[in-house]
Amino acid sequence: MKIQEIDALLKESLPPKRYEHSVNVMHEAVVLAEHYNLDPERIRLAALLHDCGRETANHDAPRKAREMGLSVSPLEEAQPVLLHARMGMTIAREKYRVTDGEILKAISLHTTGGKDMSALDTVIFLADYTEPARVQKGVDKVRRLARANMNLAMLTALKYNMEYLLRDQRYIHPDCIDCWNYFLNKLFKRDG
Ligand SMILES: [Fe+2]
Ligand SMILES: [Fe+2]
Repeated sequence: MKIQEIDALLKESLPPKRYEHSVNVMHEAVVLAEHYNLDPERIRLAALLHDCGRETANHDAPRKAREMGLSVSPLEEAQPVLLHARMGMTIAREKYRVTDGEILKAISLHTTGGKDMSALDTVIFLADYTEPARVQKGVDKVRRLARANMNLAMLTALKYNMEYLLRDQRYIHPDCIDCWNYFLNKLFKRDG
């Protein structure tokens, strides 16, 4: 499928606000791609599709995920919004005909992060976190860092995310903790 066709189908499939956010993330991701000399075409597609799993409402996500053959953990059952990343990977493959495994991985990791994140995964995560319509605590700091040191930007975004989760007594997905440990090690070469 050409990116124009993907864009048209995505626009039909997502609520307008979510589609607008996807386009914002695409623009932000391309800026970061150019900044870090990464392949902008691959990043453009991953960013545009990163939230394609949002075509299903949160309350219906566990049922839909199972229907797609995905596992649903008790944590995801309690916080079904988390499922849109893995569902998005399946939808990108089956509905939007994406075959590039790197793009599919970036979509599946964009919410929790994970270990062994590539530059592509990291750019999609950061663009999602910092696109211009975002106003959450710490976003300006992460926006600045995203253009200076991708790994430090990532660690800072994760810190703000986890602070929020702890304060609000919410679950923390194990992939999020893996992601924190991975970037801490990457930045400071700690071993454990
Ligand atoms: Fe998302
Ligand atoms: Fe998003």
